[in-house]
Amino acid sequence: MKSFSFVTLASGFALVVAVAAQDGTKTTWDGVYSAAQAARGQAVYADKCAKCHGTEGGGGDAPELVGSAFGSNYDTFTVNELFERIRMSMPADNPTTLTRDETAVITAHLLEMNGFPAGTTELPTTADGLGKIKYVAIKPAGAPAQAAAEPAPPRLRAAGVLDGPDPKQMETAPALGFTAVNPGLKMPAGIKLGAPSSVAFDKSGNLWVFNRGEHPLMEFDPQGSFVRSFGEGQVTRSHGMRIDADGNIWMTDVTGSTVTKMSPAGNVLLTLGTKGQNGAWDEAAGTRLLFEPCDLAFAPNGDVFVVEGHGRGEGRVLKFDKTGKFLKQWGSNGAGEGQFNQPHSLLVRDGQLYVADRENHRVQIFDLDGNFVKQWKFAGLPCGLLNGPDGQLYLTSGFSGQILRLDANGKAVGAFGQPGPGFADFGEAHYMAFAPNGDIYVADTINQVLHRYAKP
Ligand code: HEC
Repeated sequence: MKSFSFVTLASGFALVVAVAAQDGTKTTWDGVYSAAQAARGQAVYADKCAKCHGTEGGGGDAPELVGSAFGSNYDTFTVNELFERIRMSMPADNPTTLTRDETAVITAHLLEMNGFPAGTTELPTTADGLGKIKYVAIKPAGAPAQAAAEPAPPRLRAAGVLDGPDPKQMETAPALGFTAVNPGLKMPAGIKLGAPSSVAFDKSGNLWVFNRGEHPLMEFDPQGSFVRSFGEGQVTRSHGMRIDADGNIWMTDVTGSTVTKMSPAGNVLLTLGTKGQNGAWDEAAGTRLLFEPCDLAFAPNGDVFVVEGHGRGEGRVLKFDKTGKFLKQWGSNGAGEGQFNQPHSLLVRDGQLYVADRENHRVQIFDLDGNFVKQWKFAGLPCGLLNGPDGQLYLTSGFSGQILRLDANGKAVGAFGQPGPGFADFGEAHYMAFAPNGDIYVADTINQVLHRYAKP
């Protein structure tokens, strides 16, 4: 197997920080602005920026000025780049009107909003001074955290989306020790990754990302270089994606209400449902429709399970054989055994079917004929299920922003992650995958990034 060059990227990163510290330059983690300066910046920001970028920088009509997407735009550059970006082009409706001092105080405020610690000196206003401060998005080991006198209560960025951990929704378990690193994807000019909804690795170690951009399905080689894309103009809203034992790629279009099976070469082999038509599957009536299919799973004999109902459609599991012949279905909306409230993921494991019954805060376990066996309750919202390469069951806990390793009784025995706007944080931990080297990749629909967490 080819080795991953990503790994060297992570260690190269640590090296950069060390070198920067040696030659007298600083990073954004070294207390490069003062709290008073940031407070002045907040006032100017509220006056000149908030109407487009939101009071908390969370975006609106304009891009977010907090969070991982923002951080990755400036990561490894100097703060002068951010300063000049603001000074030369903002406010968008009245550019080049800010003085250097105004730009500096706003930049200080943005650094504060992005979680960098304040120090005793002010952020300089000169290109020379600003050019000596490196923007480092990921917190290096040992760097001081922002001095928070009182931990701020979690705020909601959007319905259900947390800005910080909500103790009521978190599972307590020993830390798994994964650390956020840059996924190192190399994109060709003009091609952008949209909000990723699902991620998977094929047998050759290529990475597949299903996303909500113009190029819905993207393939990357083990070095992270873009190979090709599929599905342009064909996917209404990307959702689940899994690769079967023969290497075929199965995708669910949650709003288009279809499931598509594609060969590794990119030929569509099968489509279940009719694009744009929501409805129930009724063999007797000859209506073969789906309603908000979310995810799918394969039995060892090739049978395919599809789970549907994402808020509008009825919560249900459908079972097909590998040719797409309908076998059976079960479920309805509700909280009883065998009922669902936005069932979001499913997985075959040891001859049983595990269903993440998201809004019921539980995982239900059935036999492969749909007979209810048992259920496990969770504090957060079970979002994605995966069999790990270590043989253990993994669960993404959506808006609570946790990745959980579960034991055979559904108890979380390991965890990492938290909700928030930062580089390592989740807007929503949607679906995940293990890379061949053991790193974890997580598709985050809300922060709109593909996360990569290096194994300990
Ligand atoms: C009238 C709306 C509007 C106002 C007011 C405005 N911006 Fe923007 N800003 C935008 C838009 C739209 C973009 C993206 C397009 C572009 O780059 O011009 C943007 C982009 C940016 C970016 C680049 C984001 C990135 O991810 O690289 C920064 C930084 C920024 N704005 C900062 C500011 C600051 C600071 C202010 C206040 C001084 C401000 N903006 C005021 C609309 C606005």
